[in-house]
Amino acid sequence: MSEKILVVDDDVESLKLISLMLKRQGYDVAIANSGVQALSKALAEMPNLIILDIMMMDMDGYEVCRRLRANPETRPIPIIMFTAKTLIDDKVAGFEAGADDYLTKPTHPAELASRIKAVLARNQTSSQSVRPQGVAVGVLGAKGGIGTTTVAVNLAAAHQQNKGRPILVDFRLGAGHAGLSLGLTKLDGMANVLSKPVNEIKAPLLMQNLVAHGSGLRVLAASPDPREAQMRFTPDAANAIIRGLKAIGNPIVVDLGAGYSELTARMLPSLDKLVILVEPVAMVIAAAEHLIEAIKSDFNKPIHIVVIHRTPLARGMITWTDVEARLGQSVAGMISAAPEIAYQATEAGNPIVLQQPGAVIANQFMKLAQTIPG
Ligand SMILES: Nc1ncnc2c1ncn2[C@@H]1O[C@H](COP(=O)(O)OP(=O)(O)O)[C@@H](O)[C@H]1O
Ligand SMILES: [Mg+2]
Repeated sequence: MSEKILVVDDDVESLKLISLMLKRQGYDVAIANSGVQALSKALAEMPNLIILDIMMMDMDGYEVCRRLRANPETRPIPIIMFTAKTLIDDKVAGFEAGADDYLTKPTHPAELASRIKAVLARNQTSSQSVRPQGVAVGVLGAKGGIGTTTVAVNLAAAHQQNKGRPILVDFRLGAGHAGLSLGLTKLDGMANVLSKPVNEIKAPLLMQNLVAHGSGLRVLAASPDPREAQMRFTPDAANAIIRGLKAIGNPIVVDLGAGYSELTARMLPSLDKLVILVEPVAMVIAAAEHLIEAIKSDFNKPIHIVVIHRTPLARGMITWTDVEARLGQSVAGMISAAPEIAYQATEAGNPIVLQQPGAVIANQFMKLAQTIPG
């Protein structure tokens, strides 16, 4: 894959000229013709390098540079300042604002090429690992109705309480209960995003379609209107959604519903971890054995098993260690039965961790967020 360079200049001719030079050298080129556009494009495109003009009408290159450096998402992107200014003071100001290199116009294409190569090479070792990318965690029920949405909502809410930047995503089109359970009213985010062509599914579009719960938790909600179940996710769209969200949040907590659906199978490449929910009930464990075996053959990243109780412990109930033995895997966490708290939280449109922060179940969710970090 060729490296992507964002060229920022409010002069159309310069923009064309530099873009052409870069394209000839085999780079992927994105352009912005103002400071403001540079900031949004940097987020949306996540380029490997930015070439930034200094004198622009709306916001000068120094300010753009400072803002890119102030945002953790864009901080690691190398920046070459490119300008007609030749005074030493300007260079100093450029480096102080956080530029990696400085070029004056007019520049010979060969000089531009070699500076770009040098800056990219210096950042090579870090470019992939440093670029901050959120972690996407899929939450999947071994069976329908066992509390998948509740766990997804509360895992995300626990990260929000821990000062993370989580985003909760409901992939259950036409059966979107995550937003409803939080008392949200704007539930068409996912449908709006899916109505757009895949190449537009990037951070800015996603940001416009997030709704925030009173706690600050951001949600990409799916509608509970069953007619929307007929909308289809192409694998590309599903993956673009996750990739775009990873640029603006961490972790991305995805409500996948139950079972190994076609959608879940297609999304596995974009997910970094899976939480599989089981109940300590023989039939659910039996179903989970099959589910986990199938998923493991397609997904070799971490799978965390979480045991959820909907009813209080009964005599003879399968224990945690039984579950581990049957599934051949350690259990990452346990959620106790708390029907009354779960009911009150839904009525109030709150996550359980906010509704009753002192409750055992709230602590279990907080602990789960530590076990499954962003
Ligand atoms: N730990 C729990 N104890 C008791 N009831 C729960 C618990 N977790 C969830 N519930 C309740 O179970 C029902 C189903 O939960 P939900 O999260 O919607 O499941 P799913 O997404 O698997 O269909 C809801 O009424 C919810 O309030
Ligand atoms: Mg659900």
